[in-house]
Amino acid sequence: MDLKLRGKRALVTGSSRGIGRAIALSLADFKVDVAINYLRNRTRAEETAHEIEERGVRALVLKGNVAKPDHVEHLFSSIGDSWGGLDIVVSNAASGVLRPARELTLHHFDWSMHINAAALLPITQQFLEMDSESEKALVAVSSLGALRAIPNYTAVGASKAALESMVRHLAAEFAPEGLRINAVSAGTVDTDALLHFPNREELLDSALKRTPAGRLVHPQDVANVAIFLCTQYASMIHGQTLIVDGGYSILA
Ligand SMILES: NC(=O)c1ccc[n+]([C@@H]2O[C@H](COP(=O)([O-])OP(=O)(O)OC[C@H]3O[C@@H](n4cnc5c(N)ncnc54)[C@H](OP(=O)(O)O)[C@@H]3O)[C@@H](O)[C@H]2O)c1
Repeated sequence: MDLKLRGKRALVTGSSRGIGRAIALSLADFKVDVAINYLRNRTRAEETAHEIEERGVRALVLKGNVAKPDHVEHLFSSIGDSWGGLDIVVSNAASGVLRPARELTLHHFDWSMHINAAALLPITQQFLEMDSESEKALVAVSSLGALRAIPNYTAVGASKAALESMVRHLAAEFAPEGLRINAVSAGTVDTDALLHFPNREELLDSALKRTPAGRLVHPQDVANVAIFLCTQYASMIHGQTLIVDGGYSILA
């Protein structure tokens, strides 16, 4: 299928591993050049970049903490220097403190809000300044914790709710400037991120049992929807969060 993405240039934050990696590789499958961003794991980022180049498009490997505005500025200026512009951003990198609320401090809370929600602001501002030949698309990656109560997820869930609200506000403000902003929200996906959950096995088990579609969400499921939101076929979708959870969240 031709999604008419050929020749576009994308940045996917946190794309050395997990869902970000799947999104980056899918974009490359549709002949999009992809800048891989990572925080610590250069080897994994380079492996992903290598797989992107094997698909016949360009890759950049950029270290940077999305929670730091000067790092974000550097990410975008590096892409501008190398490629002269940018058409797609997938704001996927996330972190946060997973603890029972009784043990959470305001520092934990602020940190989770900062990286998962507030970081979208400098990312959007920098993206607005980039040259692009067509409409720009920004997709943020959220989670069901924005809407539902998940054990140990108070800080991260609140940050994802804030992220989805920011997506609506930023989408309304910047649509007239040709920047289309949406989010994709995923159910439980078995990535390295789950290793930080004290109750990983229980989480996977209950997600599988409760999912009407009968299997867990895979990184590729999230990537497919993120890619769709980047295409011109989604051109009238603005400020929405599309849920990819095999029906988990529709059950009472
Ligand atoms: N896994 C799930 O069940 C699930 C469900 C719903 C939504 N999500 C969302 O999906 C997204 C990706 O999650 P994942 O499960 O794929 O995570 P993951 O496997 O832990 O990968 C995280 C990625 O983000 C990078 N990263 C972390 N902090 C960063 C920072 N401050 N600046 C830049 N890059 C940073 C990591 O780089 P390094 O390799 O260098 O560490 C890595 O590439 C997140 O937004 C998450 O909230 C996940």
